[in-house]
Amino acid sequence: MSQTTIRVRKNGPFRIEGDFTILDADDRPFGLAGRTSIALCRCNQSANVPFCDGTHKTTGFLSECPARDLLPPAPKG
Ligand code: FES
Repeated sequence: MSQTTIRVRKNGPFRIEGDFTILDADDRPFGLAGRTSIALCRCNQSANVPFCDGTHKTTGFLSECPARDLLPPAPKG
């Protein structure tokens, strides 16, 4: 099994690479035709949600998410 990597693109989509499955809200898998990398829309303007279709380039979508450390998760009680 290969590692899965998710890249947060500057002003663009999430790029997923590696070994992954994308499920809809009813746990049905999207057919990805053998792709090992795909872009998921982050701007919510794609005509092919949840996948990026490049529309973010024409809508002025701006979002930078530099890497940072999160706080530890709250204990479950
Ligand atoms: S991020 Fe590319 S169309 Fe939304």
